[in-house]
Amino acid sequence: MTPRPDATPPPTPARPSPPPPAAPPSLTDLERRAATRHARPVYGHDALIACDRLVRVFTTDGVEVQALQGLDLLVSEGELMALVGASGSGKSTLMNILAGLDVPTAGAARVAGRDLLAMDARTRLDYRRNIVGFVWQQTARNLLPYLTALQNIALPMQLRGGRRRSERTRAAEELLSLLSLTHCRDRRPHQLSGGEAQRTAIAVALANTPAVLLADEPTGELDSHTAEQVFAAFRTANEELGTTIVIVTHDQKVADEVRRTVAIRDGRTSTEVLRRTEIDAATGRESVVAREYATLDRAGRLQLPADYTAPLGMRDRVLLQREPDHIAVWPDAPADTPAEPPDEDPTEDPTEA
Ligand SMILES: Nc1ncnc2c1ncn2[C@@H]1O[C@H](COP(=O)(O)OP(=O)(O)OP(=O)(O)O)[C@@H](O)[C@H]1O
Ligand SMILES: [Mg+2]
Repeated sequence: MTPRPDATPPPTPARPSPPPPAAPPSLTDLERRAATRHARPVYGHDALIACDRLVRVFTTDGVEVQALQGLDLLVSEGELMALVGASGSGKSTLMNILAGLDVPTAGAARVAGRDLLAMDARTRLDYRRNIVGFVWQQTARNLLPYLTALQNIALPMQLRGGRRRSERTRAAEELLSLLSLTHCRDRRPHQLSGGEAQRTAIAVALANTPAVLLADEPTGELDSHTAEQVFAAFRTANEELGTTIVIVTHDQKVADEVRRTVAIRDGRTSTEVLRRTEIDAATGRESVVAREYATLDRAGRLQLPADYTAPLGMRDRVLLQREPDHIAVWPDAPADTPAEPPDEDPTEDPTEA
């Protein structure tokens, strides 16, 4: 048996409780059961963003495209995380739903306590204005061309109302300063570099201090040096303002810089990479350790990566073997050999889960 990669002792499995008595449950029993079920915390109750089996089907000319196929995702308050995935995997579809611009076909999505499937037009407008901020890939889409950087940032504050002009200007100047954009204060978008324009877009998205900042490929049109500066602006917003940030990116550098990167495949979350800083006890040197996890969804489904399954010829079905602290996955045996996992120590086998 292979030891668990992180060598933490596995929890002792709870003993199954004895079967209930055959007599039908009394009314009191049923009431107690209902109360217990009611008291159980809902899925993702402590997460700022909770997507539960999210489905989005697009129908064009009678043809259905299932862009999201039961996607689960939890994001905690204060996280700065990245979403990656092949083209067409459903990233933008998810972002548009989280931004309140699109409504899922089925499932549940909650952001900062708002149910995204149950918002009327008025609540939706309030949600878009005050709860989420959004940065698009196309720099031109983020800013109004006839307004200066300062005016672009002050506009969402004006639309929300409640603050005097001088207060709005001061708040916008603070955001410009936070993102090192003071020199761009009175410039219009065509007088900004690509990186400056995207950082101004971040300031616009932060204008009404949203709980969540969403960005879909915000560095997609930039060279790598400029992309780094834009990413630094996201990090500043996360660290200085505590904003929870979700960035869709194809940029491996961005994906490597965040603690958590979730991969979407065929409209579902498939794997995630968690990075943590470890300090070498002997040298005191810090290093970042990354580990890849497969997502186990609420129905117990697991996607095995193709680079694990293909070399072993695994397809259609696999054999599971339960061990006290892990589960081994074996290729299905050919029909003429018994489908028994080998008795000897399977340490060498790379399919161990
Ligand atoms: N409005 C729409 N109408 C019909 N199909 C759509 C619509 N929006 C997205 N799709 C389809 O849904 C699937 C997911 O699209 P989506 O834009 O979410 O992918 P993506 O992961 O953002 O891709 P990319 O990396 O190329 O931006 C694709 O097959 C796409 O063609
Ligand atoms: Mg997209």
